[in-house]
Amino acid sequence: MREIHVIGIGAGDPDQLTLQAVKALRDTDVFFILDKGEAKADLTGLRRDMLEAHIPGGGYRVVEARDPERDRKAGGSAYSPAVGDWRSARADIYERLISEELGEEQTGAFLVWGDPSLYDSTIGILEEVLERGRVVFGFDVVPGISSVSALAARHRTGLNRVARPVQITTGRRLAEGFPEGVDDVVVMLDAHQSFRAYADQDVDIYWGAYIGTPDEILVSGPLAEAAPRIEHLRAKARERKGWIMDTYLLRRRPDES
Ligand SMILES: C[S@@+](CC[C@H](N)C(=O)[O-])C[C@H]1O[C@@H](n2cnc3c(N)ncnc32)[C@H](O)[C@@H]1O
Repeated sequence: MREIHVIGIGAGDPDQLTLQAVKALRDTDVFFILDKGEAKADLTGLRRDMLEAHIPGGGYRVVEARDPERDRKAGGSAYSPAVGDWRSARADIYERLISEELGEEQTGAFLVWGDPSLYDSTIGILEEVLERGRVVFGFDVVPGISSVSALAARHRTGLNRVARPVQITTGRRLAEGFPEGVDDVVVMLDAHQSFRAYADQDVDIYWGAYIGTPDEILVSGPLAEAAPRIEHLRAKARERKGWIMDTYLLRRRPDES
């Protein structure tokens, strides 16, 4: 039977590939690399470098495919169907890759940015392909170091405070309001710098872009002071590279009254 590894490869630093991930890389015949947009060339190059560094002697095949673009303009109630269409368009591609590019007895792998459990649809898409029943395979998941873990480590901080919860959310959600019942919020997928709405509150920010790569930028401090700096650095970096990936932790300061 065909086997698939879903391998978390870390958020950018090749040294953050785990030993388990390296074993899975070496066990793979065909790598499927899906990317899209401006970041494609950079991120695909990084994955190829990882393969070259960790699979001495080669002997594997790389199949690149273009990810369908998601309709990001669809807001409000249209958001979910847009995501649904996008997932099934991706499922079509995955199904074709597995049935046409992977031999019956071979092992394939999807190299997933960060950790596959966090804001990544690879596992869900593979399940959808299996449900369709046109191609049969087994799959396992190798965890990776997420951008969230990498962010906390680079800022030498924890995500939660003692016995307190932490919430991981998106820029879109943060724009709807600071989550209730939590004082520590990690924000991903934020194209609009939604943190700006909280600059007048007693909040600290720990921000990082391109974490783990040579382009890494880190800023931390009271949000009121850090926000304009982040906006400036973010705009400059985005202009220079053409794309940006950033993540941040917002931490409400304890009420001292
Ligand atoms: C589709 S999600 C994938 C998350 C990934 N599975 C993970 O575990 O980090 C993409 C988001 O991850 C964050 N991200 C991924 N890599 C990053 C990096 N090297 N530096 C900063 N943020 C990163 C950004 O918030 C970006 O918008």
